[in-house]
Amino acid sequence: VNIAFLGTGLMGSRMARRLLNAGFSVTVWNRSPVKTAALRDAGAKVAADPASASCSADIVVLMLADPPAVRETVFGPASVQSAFRQGLTIVDMSTVDPPFSVEMNRKCRDAGVHYFDAPVLGSLKPAEEGTLQVFAGTSEEEARVALPLLNTLGRAVYFLGRPGAGAAMKMAMNLYLGASMAALAEVLAFARNSGHSDGALLKVVRDAPIFDDSKKAKLSKIIESNDWALSFPLKWMFKDLELAVATAESADLQLPLARTSRALYGAALAEGYGDLDYSAIMKDYCRVCSRLPGDGARGPGGSSFAEDIILGVLERSRALTHLVLDQFPRQHTERRPRDGMPSCLQLTMRIAVIEKTLLSGLRDGNWSTESLSIPEIYHFETVVEFLRETRAETLAWFAQNRFRLARTVLPPSGREVTVAHLLLDLTDREASLRGQMMTCGALFGARFRNLPS
Ligand SMILES: NC(=O)c1ccc[n+]([C@@H]2O[C@H](COP(=O)([O-])OP(=O)(O)OC[C@H]3O[C@@H](n4cnc5c(N)ncnc54)[C@H](OP(=O)(O)O)[C@@H]3O)[C@@H](O)[C@H]2O)c1
Repeated sequence: VNIAFLGTGLMGSRMARRLLNAGFSVTVWNRSPVKTAALRDAGAKVAADPASASCSADIVVLMLADPPAVRETVFGPASVQSAFRQGLTIVDMSTVDPPFSVEMNRKCRDAGVHYFDAPVLGSLKPAEEGTLQVFAGTSEEEARVALPLLNTLGRAVYFLGRPGAGAAMKMAMNLYLGASMAALAEVLAFARNSGHSDGALLKVVRDAPIFDDSKKAKLSKIIESNDWALSFPLKWMFKDLELAVATAESADLQLPLARTSRALYGAALAEGYGDLDYSAIMKDYCRVCSRLPGDGARGPGGSSFAEDIILGVLERSRALTHLVLDQFPRQHTERRPRDGMPSCLQLTMRIAVIEKTLLSGLRDGNWSTESLSIPEIYHFETVVEFLRETRAETLAWFAQNRFRLARTVLPPSGREVTVAHLLLDLTDREASLRGQMMTCGALFGARFRNLPS
């Protein structure tokens, strides 16, 4: 069986090596080629892009950061798509959200390719030793061709039956992982604040059955050797919590603990800990907490957590706009009547109108803005600059009222984009979800007029 292994980061490099050692023929590809050098030395073929890695593969394994990375690798330029043919199996072992897996499965199935989600629980050592737990969003029968591979990587493979079920199980596991590490950070902060030495705390934790082995090991490394060595990057923990919360909320399930964990890891990201291990949530817990929204507290750099979220959302919206503008011929992106406009543009437009409305409402007190053309609207630098100067209370209000993730499909290529857009949790949720352009100014106006000054 020929395997194309795409994504040789922390996990992927170890999993690909394990497959090589087990005798599989493996071709690797990684966006940053430097991460394939050691695998070449270990006997892997190295490809220049996903397309050439996949052209003679029976199975394509993906171990990539997040949904955009998977989408780009499977459907972007020089992607796996160009090697699509009957009988090809794609196993996505990246941690992504269930709706994304369902969508990828459908698109691949329509093209005659078998795609299933198979994310993993377990970190670097289990990846090396083949002792991961694998959550397969398919049946054992349908995964037959990939069984030897899955059994080489995992000590247990769970066949969960339907597309997205593996992703959902993985999300569920990481909800616990994220919240429990944050809980340990709180244990440490509280014990220190009560005058206990780290040594005394560690002794008790080691003896206490309420803590699992991995927490005991992490705490020991941190306390005894100040070792924050990376195994699971904090930025991916934040990503997982963000995806899990969005998935739950889109199905009207509230996860208050996950929302708090997400805010904490978001604050740690803003603190610059994204590339450290997720246990870095413990690094300076009080400082991380000072970045949380709610009391107008501002971080040391003068920026608040809420502000970072808003700036991040605007950055993503801007990226989406560039994507839309690049993708469509100019006549589609200029002012035109709303009828007949591609739906992706309508969505972008809706987001744009919300942002424009907020901007002009906050700056000029004008809440009656109606629809405008996209090029006219997207002056993001101005928006970002304006928000940097906006009062902390306003920013905190934004953060507390949550930004939602929405997903849409750009029709001509079928390429999917995830946009974080400014759908605030308005009293009239229906109206905001349907993007009632003419009324959103009035809705925002009503809310903002009641803000504390
Ligand atoms: N580390 C763990 O303990 C662990 C455990 C279970 C699951 N996971 C999940 O496994 C996945 C990989 O995590 P990791 O720990 O191996 O992280 P990592 O070292 O950061 O690897 C991420 C991989 O994704 C690639 N990538 C990122 N954006 C891309 C894009 N736009 N296009 C193409 N490739 C892109 C990276 O390429 P570059 O090298 O070019 O950046 C790298 O190969 C994530 O979904 C993570 O949540 C991690």
